[in-house]
Formats: sequence, structure tokens, C-alpha cells
Amino acid sequence: MQAWRASLLRFDDQGHALFDRDGLLVTSPGADGRQVVLAAGDHAALASAWPDVPVTHLPGRILAPGFIDTHVHYPQTEIIGSPAEGLLPWLEHYTFPHEARFADPAHAAEVAAFFCDELMRHGVTTPLTFCTSHPASVDALFTEAERRGLRLIAGKVLQDRHSPDGVRDETEQSLVDTEALIRRWHGQGRLGYAITPRFAPSCSEAQLRGAGELAARYPDVWIQSHVAENQDEIAWARALFPDSRSYLAIYNDHGLMRERAMYAHCIHFTDDDRALMRDTHTAAAVCPTSNLFLGSGFFDFAAAERVPFAHGLASDVGGGTSFSPFVTMRAAYFVGRTPTTGLHTKPGVSLAPERLWWLHTAGAAHALGLDGVVGNLQPGCEADFVVLDPAATPLLARRTREAESLAELLFALIVLGDDRAVAQMVINGTPLSR
Ligand code: GUN
Ligand code: ZN
Repeated sequence: MQAWRASLLRFDDQGHALFDRDGLLVTSPGADGRQVVLAAGDHAALASAWPDVPVTHLPGRILAPGFIDTHVHYPQTEIIGSPAEGLLPWLEHYTFPHEARFADPAHAAEVAAFFCDELMRHGVTTPLTFCTSHPASVDALFTEAERRGLRLIAGKVLQDRHSPDGVRDETEQSLVDTEALIRRWHGQGRLGYAITPRFAPSCSEAQLRGAGELAARYPDVWIQSHVAENQDEIAWARALFPDSRSYLAIYNDHGLMRERAMYAHCIHFTDDDRALMRDTHTAAAVCPTSNLFLGSGFFDFAAAERVPFAHGLASDVGGGTSFSPFVTMRAAYFVGRTPTTGLHTKPGVSLAPERLWWLHTAGAAHALGLDGVVGNLQPGCEADFVVLDPAATPLLARRTREAESLAELLFALIVLGDDRAVAQMVINGTPLSR
């Protein structure tokens, strides 16, 4: 058993932020070598119940749940910031040629290690990540995550058409490989598998059908893909699958919408699409820096409340521009503020800082079906957390000193924070230096 004393941020079941200025977090070994939170709350109220537990005292620091990145591409680490007209030219000119290099297991292993280092520097403790179409790229990442004790969900990309040599896979083999990878990695320690059709335009009808069959056979495996990101992409998907009611409905028609399915972007939706997300318990990964960088559009936060479906924040590196959850929360705020234009111009929303933070932690865990497992520091949660320094830079120190409420403190961190604010990471109860 061990304990940490510092300010403590966590969330209740309704997503409200709880903050103890002088807090105590007690962790202990749980099942399967997992360290879990035993108690969390006010130090004065809790300390006497744990007299013999060694306490690490970190005055001035904030303990907060590790961040969850609900959509990221580890093989795109080296193409961040590659400008293009829009999504489809970006895929053709940068993404596919670069991903072809992951046929080489040594290259995949080297990038996987760098990717895990970056996640940890930035305070991300649970990513849901794409690999490439090469099974070796999946083995490389899981091997690296396992070595570090990181909770990680990943999958081999399925793309058997409209993809160049070097990344295009073969229908039957891609499904055989996927099943073998599920059996090898899903549920190994804290690792999870995600069935990963790249997006409908890159998958044949047979490949999507096969992916849906695997999703039915392995109901606790995740599903991840892209949808409704870009107008050209949408027109293409609709032309390829004319029988489906919408781009999103293609996935439903192939058995790919259910709990633990996570679709990136979800920008250009109708209310029918939102209702389909809600009714199938499917979640959205909101990728604001990517959407701004590639000029894809603006996720409609107000509409996602009106016809409610689960959603969490994501970096979408390398369409996205940063691994930092602070940068992503900041961009989500700006996206929320942007008025929707057109026939019915509506003012943007001002997302509360507690809400932005929740969408990247406990809310993201909820979207992934991992409530009470990660993304929070309530009793029973795994001990994955960040130690934040609200005075990490001169400006942060000056601004957070003036904060008169939790909202002001979190907003200051969202607006001014980056990896420098992450003083330390604790993964499964083990502190790691950045
Ligand atoms: N759609 C299909 N593939 C991709 C990808 O790699 N990134 C993004 N942002 N959208 C996609
Ligand atoms: Zn993506």
C-alpha cells in the first residue's frame, strides 16, 4: 500500500469535478498485478484511517487522472504537421507512403518506443490507437506497452481497396490476421484489441462484413474507424455504398456499431446519425486539432448534447498537431466557441473547463466502456495518474496563483498548459520520471 498527499482532482458519477485542496490518495495491489485506488478524498478526513501507509507528500502539486486519448495513430508520429488541401490528398501524399515503412518490424519497434515516450511525457495513460495494415506493427506496439505496463488498445488497420501497394491488405488474410492478433493480445494484462477498418472507402464490402462478424464473435473487443470527417470523403463513401442511408449507416449495416465502437470525427452528421450513435451505444472521438489542421470542419458539441451520444477527446496524431491533452482541450474549447454558419447561424457554446477535462478523462473512459477502470481516481480505479505542477512556467505560476475557483484553475491549465505542467506520471502505481 502507498499514499500520495497533494491537491486531488476526480469526478463523481454525474461527471462533476471533485477537488480536495489538501487531498490523500491511497493505492493498493488489486487483482492481476494491478494497483488500484483504495481511498481518495480530504487528507484530514482520511489520514487517520491509514496510519502505517508511507505517504509521498507533494505540496503545491495536483494529482489528476491520467488522460485518455480516444483516437491516435502511432505510425503517424513522424508526419505531424504535413500540410495538404484536405484529408484525401493528405492520405495519398504523406500518410500511405509513410505507413508503408511499418512493414519493417525494426522500424515499427523504434517508432512504438518513441510514441510511448511521448504519451508519457504528455500525461496520456490510455490511448486507443491505430497501427498500420502490417500485423508486425501491432506486435511492436503491444510489446512496447506491455514492457511499460501501459494500458493500451490498438489494432491492425483493414484496407483492402483504394489503397496503394505497400499498405493495401488482402481480404481473407486481413481477417485471419485480425483474429490471430485478438487471440494473441486482447486481455493480456492491460492490453485490449480494436478491430480497425480504416474507413469505409478503403474497405471492400466483404472486408467490412468480415470485420462485423469478428465484432459479433468477440463482443468485448473494441472497434475503431473514421466517419463524416470531410465532404469529399463523405461523397466517396456514399457513392461506394449507395444502399446505406448515410455514411455512418454503412458501419451499422455491417455490424460495426455497438458498445465499445469508437468513430473518429463525426462532424458532418444529421440528427438521424446522432440518434443512431445514441441507440447503438456507439461513441465518437472528437479530434479538434486535426479538424482545424486539415480544414475538415467543426464537431457540433451542442448537437451532441441535444441528441446525446457518448464522446471523448482525441489527438488524432498525425492529422492532429499535438500529443498534449492540454492542447487538445484548448482546441476543443475554440471549436465549441465557433458559431455554426449557414441557413441557421447559431452561436457557439462555451464548454466549461471541468467538462473539457472530463471529456479527456472519466468521460473518455465512459465512451470506451471503461468507467470505473481508468480516467478517474475514485476507489477501484487503476492507479494511472499525473502529478501536475500548476507553476510549471512563470506565466502559469502567475496565472494559477490568482485562480479563485476550480474552474479558473483548470481553465488556466487548459489555456496555458503543455507537457511542462506534467511533473510526473504514475503508471499502475509506479512513479516514472518524465
Ligand atoms: N480517414 C482514413 N484514414 C485516416 C487517417 O489516417 N487520418 C484521418 N484523420 N482520417 C482518416
Ligand atoms: Zn484518425
